[in-house]
Amino acid sequence: MQADPPEELGSLVRSFRERRGLTQESLVSRMAGAVTVETVSNIERGRTRPRRHTLGRLAAALGLGSAERDALWAAWAAGAAVAGPASRALPAAPLAGRGAELPAGTVTFLLTGIEGSSWLWETAPEAMEAALEQHDRLLCAVIEGHGGVVVTSRGEGEGVFAAFASAVAAVQAAGACQLRLQGAEWPAGAALRVRMGLHTGEAQVRDGDYASRAPVSRCARVTAAAHGGQVLVTQATRDLAGGRLGGGFGLQRLGEFRLPGLAEPELVYQLTHAGLPAEFPPLVTPAERTGNLPVPVSSFIGRASELERAWAALGQGRVVTLTGPGGVGKTRLAVQAAAQVAPWFGDGAWLAELAPVRDPAGVADAVAAVFGVTAQAGQGTGEALAEFLRGKELLLVLDNCEHLLEAAAALATGLARSCPRLVILATSREALGVDGERLVPVPPLGVPGAGAGLDAIVAAEAVRLFAERAAAVKPGFQVTAQNAAAVTTVCRRLDGVPLAIELAAARVPAMTPAELARRLERSFAVLAAGRRGAVAHHQTLRATIDWSFQLLTEPEQVLLARLAVFAGGATLEAAEAVCGGDGIDPDAVFESLASLVARSLVVAEERGPRTRYRLLETIRQYGEQRLEAAGETDRWRARHASYYAGFLHQVRDHAHDPDPEVFWAVRLSAEQDNLLAAWSWATGTGDVGTAFKILAGFAPVEVRLGYLLILPGEAALGLPGAAGHPGYPLAAAVSAVFASNRADVTGAEELCRRAADANAGTGTPDWRVEETICMARQNIATTRGAFADAARLAGQAAGIARAGGDLADASLELSTAVSSHVLASDAPAAVPLANEALALARKAGAPGLIATGLLAVGLAVAETDPGQARACLRESLELSTALGHHSAYDLLFATGIAFLIGDQAATLELGRRAIRSHQRGSGLRMAFVFYIIAGALAGTRPEAAAIILGAAETYAAEPPRATQLITLIVTEALGEERARDLRGRGAEMDWDQAVAYTLAQATQALSELQAATHP
Ligand SMILES: Nc1ncnc2c1ncn2[C@@H]1O[C@H](COP(=O)(O)OP(=O)(O)OP(=O)(O)O)[C@@H](O)[C@H]1O
Ligand SMILES: [Mg+2]
Repeated sequence: MQADPPEELGSLVRSFRERRGLTQESLVSRMAGAVTVETVSNIERGRTRPRRHTLGRLAAALGLGSAERDALWAAWAAGAAVAGPASRALPAAPLAGRGAELPAGTVTFLLTGIEGSSWLWETAPEAMEAALEQHDRLLCAVIEGHGGVVVTSRGEGEGVFAAFASAVAAVQAAGACQLRLQGAEWPAGAALRVRMGLHTGEAQVRDGDYASRAPVSRCARVTAAAHGGQVLVTQATRDLAGGRLGGGFGLQRLGEFRLPGLAEPELVYQLTHAGLPAEFPPLVTPAERTGNLPVPVSSFIGRASELERAWAALGQGRVVTLTGPGGVGKTRLAVQAAAQVAPWFGDGAWLAELAPVRDPAGVADAVAAVFGVTAQAGQGTGEALAEFLRGKELLLVLDNCEHLLEAAAALATGLARSCPRLVILATSREALGVDGERLVPVPPLGVPGAGAGLDAIVAAEAVRLFAERAAAVKPGFQVTAQNAAAVTTVCRRLDGVPLAIELAAARVPAMTPAELARRLERSFAVLAAGRRGAVAHHQTLRATIDWSFQLLTEPEQVLLARLAVFAGGATLEAAEAVCGGDGIDPDAVFESLASLVARSLVVAEERGPRTRYRLLETIRQYGEQRLEAAGETDRWRARHASYYAGFLHQVRDHAHDPDPEVFWAVRLSAEQDNLLAAWSWATGTGDVGTAFKILAGFAPVEVRLGYLLILPGEAALGLPGAAGHPGYPLAAAVSAVFASNRADVTGAEELCRRAADANAGTGTPDWRVEETICMARQNIATTRGAFADAARLAGQAAGIARAGGDLADASLELSTAVSSHVLASDAPAAVPLANEALALARKAGAPGLIATGLLAVGLAVAETDPGQARACLRESLELSTALGHHSAYDLLFATGIAFLIGDQAATLELGRRAIRSHQRGSGLRMAFVFYIIAGALAGTRPEAAAIILGAAETYAAEPPRATQLITLIVTEALGEERARDLRGRGAEMDWDQAVAYTLAQATQALSELQAATHP
């Protein structure tokens, strides 16, 4: 049996403390009062399970090294696995009676799980029972036949947990299992598809169980990322097994993935064999995103002591700033430090780039956009953000604050004050100057001292960076006795500034280090010798960039300057369209870009299917200065804005293409910074045409864009020349939709009126404007609880779209009408509309639309024909899974269907996903999810249902009529007074509490349900 994990954690904390000769009191005083002595004592006795971020602070205060931190983290994570069903980390239920000895030392772990096991239990319980027995027998036999030990079976996802002394045998066993599973005959309705993951690590056995859970949880996370039928292998296992597998097995590299809860990205391989499927959808990404940190493409060098310092500062302060001159490596260090501490933050580590923000007022918007937070009526963005972050345990990286110091400082202060578990890590050339700020200066990389020997030279950080980057462009490059002196000169000449070193190293294919050293010596002769410190570093860097710039061809120079207008990088397509022409042949843009990448002046990043090209901030500023000096800034920013306005329309027009590559959600979310830059340029310079074109790109239902951006359209409507502009009516109508999504009913109504008047005034009213107004009014009606009106308005919009020839819009709007009818308890009226929505979607041929249409049909017939509704639900979910995208909208529909057909488990499962996807969206739609979950819980957990009802009522002015029944059931079970009390408690919860409470209740109910169907 396992030791009680919290106790194990507690004794670990105690032993770390005692080893450092600290008393509980002295430890607490080191933490500046962040915890009390009582808390520490309770943690050490295993009475309190600390929040992970408290534990992170404890670890920092104890000054733990990285191995100790890992051990502490593993103990905490193991506790999490046992503490609650919400965790998906570790298997349970030891397999009785096997008694084989567990391998120790270097152990390869194999974890398996059955895809969709809860669904199978739900739909075909008897077949599942038989299939599972067959599965267990098969897996145990194969594993034991390969010398493995089955530690537990029927754990998470009905899986098996096995350990092997040999990595080769473990991988072979997994492959053999999959081959046997492939060939097996399964009971009807229960053909099992099993996911598998393997990882190798050091493991000690204590009391018949593995003492450290770290390798096991890593294995669990890899397994969770796999699809049924797929075997994933970590780098550690591949290093031992690769090349020695035989039997037709191979390992194919899938790439680096940042798996939830792991600080470092994991390189993942897939097991291949002629008899096994080779094609799988992208790895299963975590349901709850735990951050957005970029995965760096190049290696990280040195910085051990700066990382330690950052780590300690993060443990002590709430605002930590990494300071230093441009290009010294602040951003890189911040990302690395954040990734290391991310596991200590339950809500992950998130990076907000402030470099693209030009205007102090845009700071809060830029951070809000990272989380997709939108201000509601009468609320500032800062407030909305604070509300969103209030209960979260989160690390926020604010990158490049220097040009907006005051605004960044004000935001940091406000957030730190109102969000007790938020920690901010900023990078800036100067300190923010806020109270309690901890500064961690970032020095240049270490350079070899005078007279250093070869060993010391090769070990110096700056030399290592030079050597790595040079080898990347000139394979085989090494620092040798011959070139060591020259490399040392280069690194010293460049003051160890990483960006300068990268620029120099990029020239190694054309110049030897000795030539490079001579060139630098000459170009830097102007720099005053002997000056040191930030100013000198700055000049060194400036001179290095100048020097790299002079070596470029003229088109490359011109391109670099023009690229400075992009915010957050560009695709090749965008770079060609915006920067091409006028001295640059558009067809040659790619070549120049590739050359700039090779010279380290442009960073190429793989983001989904497309590569993005981005300038590091120092270089972007340099380019901007060039553009400014040539008097060309306005011209290229105008082209940028006009390109993105057009891009929005292109995405809109192709939103429903069957080609998943152009999938709008993915493409648009990558361009948020550019869209915002275009919008602020257009409104800032009074370019009404472009501003209106951007707004028109969101017509008529920006909802399907997933609340990606909600623009303050009013800013454009008031510009000089706006009123008489032909685009005015549509711009006003879209602004009304935006306002209605902020629940600003008065503002939205006023905008609708203005749009309608202007449209009528044109003489030939535009149907698109009418359609958009209908959708804005539909939103307003829903907010007010006037569902029958909402249904009528959505139907009207669909009629207009259809007459105008836009089948896709018509289909979506009919689906909206269906949901409104159902909310109004008039499903019969919805049936013909739903059938039409689906027919139109099929005619348009777009899988995403068909998925929505199927749900509309399912919803309309749920009460009269549950069989058909279930089939629709299933088909729709399969379609969206294949597309790799479930819209928040669809998940709400799907939850509704599951509820109406009385499928408790599916309601709770889908409901949880719907909650997560609405977490940053509209309160109104979240309220509907809450109502449904309250309905699902009313019979078994009336208290919880009452509390959730209370929370839902605060977000929806009028509850849908069907909820009267839920209220009735709850009141009957609890008595009037108690029901009222509990609803009051729900009404008092803030957004985060309500979300967390409802999620937890749904999760518990779901696991009880599963335990009951399969004890
Ligand atoms: N420790 C490191 N290991 C590897 N590469 C590094 C390291 N530090 C910095 N670099 C590289 O040097 C370049 C400049 O670093 P970075 O962008 O982090 O500088 P910065 O201080 O944030 O500059 P700015 O003030 O312009 O934002 C980047 O290409 C980065 O990847
Ligand atoms: Mg930076």
